[in-house]
Amino acid sequence: MAEHAGKNLNTFNQVMLPVYAPASFIPVRGKGSRIWDQLDNEYIDFAGGIAVLALGHCHPALAEALKLQGEKLWHVSNVFTNESALTLAQKLIDATFAQKVFFANSGAEANEAAFKLARRYAITRHHPHKTKIIAFHQAFHGRTFFTVSVGGQPKYADGFGPKPADIIHVPFNDLDAVKMVMDDDTCAVVLEPIQGEGGVTPATAEFLQGVRELCDKHQALLVFDEVQSGMGRTGKLYAYQHYGVIPDILTTAKALGGGFPISAMLTTDAIAAAMEIGSHGTTYGGNPLACSVGNAAIDIINTPEVLAGVEKRHDLIIHALEKLNQKYGIFHEFRGKGLLIGAVLQAEYQGKSKEILQHAAEQGLMLLSAGESILRFTPSLIIPENDIAEGMARLDRAIARWLKWGE
Ligand SMILES: Cc1ncc(COP(=O)(O)O)c(C=O)c1O
Repeated sequence: MAEHAGKNLNTFNQVMLPVYAPASFIPVRGKGSRIWDQLDNEYIDFAGGIAVLALGHCHPALAEALKLQGEKLWHVSNVFTNESALTLAQKLIDATFAQKVFFANSGAEANEAAFKLARRYAITRHHPHKTKIIAFHQAFHGRTFFTVSVGGQPKYADGFGPKPADIIHVPFNDLDAVKMVMDDDTCAVVLEPIQGEGGVTPATAEFLQGVRELCDKHQALLVFDEVQSGMGRTGKLYAYQHYGVIPDILTTAKALGGGFPISAMLTTDAIAAAMEIGSHGTTYGGNPLACSVGNAAIDIINTPEVLAGVEKRHDLIIHALEKLNQKYGIFHEFRGKGLLIGAVLQAEYQGKSKEILQHAAEQGLMLLSAGESILRFTPSLIIPENDIAEGMARLDRAIARWLKWGE
């Protein structure tokens, strides 16, 4: 379109707050697991919008839901409820441990609601000093000031003045470390069952079980941030369902709207009762447009075919990565579950993941890293097997170029 003519990274640098360093190409359209840029170069998408596009780009059922709702009712605010939100809340309740839902627009907002709820519950049901939140190194929970402070990566939280108080961080998967800091003043333990941004690190079953027991002993709430690991990404609707450890509060976002912004916080009746009218809220959360797309997404994702397909695609990707590793020997370890996979670089290549991403883009592959030494694979849950094979062939060429093989 004429109004977009000449828009490029120079424009980006002129008009955007300098908090991102986007790739050099600008995607303009997508279909399934393929994307095209301004010059009509085609890319295979192994990034999935950072674990958002569970059903790929422009899935017909989601596009249809958006179109239908777009011609019916967009927004009413929470001064009124709406049918799409009620339907989606019921589906989330039917599929999980939860009995109450709060909708918001982003992962950070769902977590913000979760942490406020945990504090409110502890203060009103127990005592006013029960405010300690135990969280983990490398955790990521969003960028509002509360969530970034609960996150375990100081580089994101520092430099903004005094932080919300009474948050303590300990090493992930280290039950003894949790035991050392846990007491009756603890209101919540917050964790990602699989740390995503922090390096694709799954919790061990013993750790989750142990944390659950400690929470019960000290009457603290267990909060699972499933913003990245949820909505089918690991082959179950939520990752906690692999472990059989039930949280008190769970947050979900990203894939919940398949690319349309929506998030939710799920909890039980008893905990929800700590809130009252006016104690929390949002203008857009749970709007009819977002919830209509969310309804279409969950109907497809929460089916045995799609969930079983995640396991199958996991195996295909791991197998392809193992073959690449036989050839190049650059990976030290593969970890993660379902289609949240991390390929950890060997010690000699530490810090170099961004270089590989750049070569991958040049070969027509969109890929993510998790930190500087891990490649992260979060494609669509229904990525066609051919696209996995073609994407891996492109990654093969990218690695060869990066290592300067054949030059
Ligand atoms: C586990 C987790 N929690 C929270 C967030 C924040 O979500 P949002 O960027 O939608 O606020 C992310 C985003 O990457 C995440 O991975």
